[in-house]
Amino acid sequence: MRRSSVIFVVLVSFLVANGSTWAQEEKVLMLPPSSLTQWYKPANKRQVWLHNMFKLRRELQAVMEYADLQDRPRMKKWALRLVTHYRKIGEMVPEWEEELEPQWAARLEDAAGNGDFAQAKRAVRKLKRSCKACHREYRAVTAALYRTPDFAKAKVRLSDTGKEHAYRETMRGLSMLVNRIKIAAEDERKQVALDALSSLRERLGDLGESCSRCHEQAQARERILGTYTGKILDALAGSIQADDIKAVGRNLGTAAVVICARCHGVHRTLYDLKKALEPLR
Ligand code: HEC
Ligand code: HEC
Ligand code: HEC
Repeated sequence: MRRSSVIFVVLVSFLVANGSTWAQEEKVLMLPPSSLTQWYKPANKRQVWLHNMFKLRRELQAVMEYADLQDRPRMKKWALRLVTHYRKIGEMVPEWEEELEPQWAARLEDAAGNGDFAQAKRAVRKLKRSCKACHREYRAVTAALYRTPDFAKAKVRLSDTGKEHAYRETMRGLSMLVNRIKIAAEDERKQVALDALSSLRERLGDLGESCSRCHEQAQARERILGTYTGKILDALAGSIQADDIKAVGRNLGTAAVVICARCHGVHRTLYDLKKALEPLR
């Protein structure tokens, strides 16, 4: 296989068992060719690449099912579609031509024409191997690069000042408030903890307003910054009022999981990964 794409090297440092030497492990990840960009939003109005992929999977299934049923016309219909969409991979991204098995696509075409069920199934299995090989190498990286929402330009408008802040800056503020609540509660500075909590609620409200810039429906916000979250923050306020430091810790922990960690699981980790993978241009 020709290695034409940019090579991205990840360096992982780890401590060797005796703790005295550092060893570095390298892993090479292939980046997809840049011609793939045109088949994704925003360069394209539709997720053309992905839709071709879904068609392929459906067509593979149909060919196998009709081969088992020995239904010649239907098998042929789906085999021809499969071959067309399989070839489209190389038409869309010429650099990936060599990832394909054109001879097995041609054999499938022949087998479908001749009603040779066994040969058709054999060809499908060979094609499937090329799906797997490409996926192993490129699928996760492609999804991270092309389908991860970009927070670099996402903004949060703060309700007290009316100013827009970058996500990252907003996040640092949230983290500071969460820790201030914990520190102040532990040191019995109740009013400081309560003030920090009310600032946190206000900031989370502002953050919640930013979801709608990408999410048309309110569900995403509701899941992470909705009624349930409100109840946890009420409970947190109650435990600060009652000087119940253990309960403060517990409620704060729950809030950090259902608000911060849950959203980070969806958005932050992938965004971090996308940033790490992006070619240096
Ligand atoms: C030359 C590379 C390449 C080949 C060959 C290829 N794919 Fe893909 N496929 C990809 C990439 C890259 C993605 C990730 C796209 C994304 O997530 O945006 C993908 C994603 C998919 C997905 C959607 C992700 C999922 O698992 O839900 C399906 C379905 C799929 N491919 C089916 C197939 C089938 C079936 C074949 C073989 C007939 C095939 N692909 C051959 C590159 C390839
Ligand atoms: C820059 C655009 C963008 C912003 C801002 C954004 N999201 Fe998303 N979010 C997306 C996209 C696109 C998806 C679907 C694709 C995916 O899973 O990554 C998604 C998926 C999700 C999901 C998982 C699927 C679902 O709908 O339940 C949750 C939960 C979520 N977002 C919560 C939030 C919350 C809460 C906010 C605001 C605090 C937010 N998002 C802000 C783009 C964004
Ligand atoms: C949209 C859902 C979402 C919610 C809810 C959320 N975060 Fe984040 N967080 C992100 C994203 C996206 C980033 C990456 C921003 C970037 O790197 O530009 C991030 C990054 C961070 C960072 C790293 C900032 C830096 O300096 O790089 C911290 C700290 C953080 N969040 C804390 C929190 C805390 C604490 C909470 C809960 C009170 C929280 N976040 C809730 C999405 C969210």
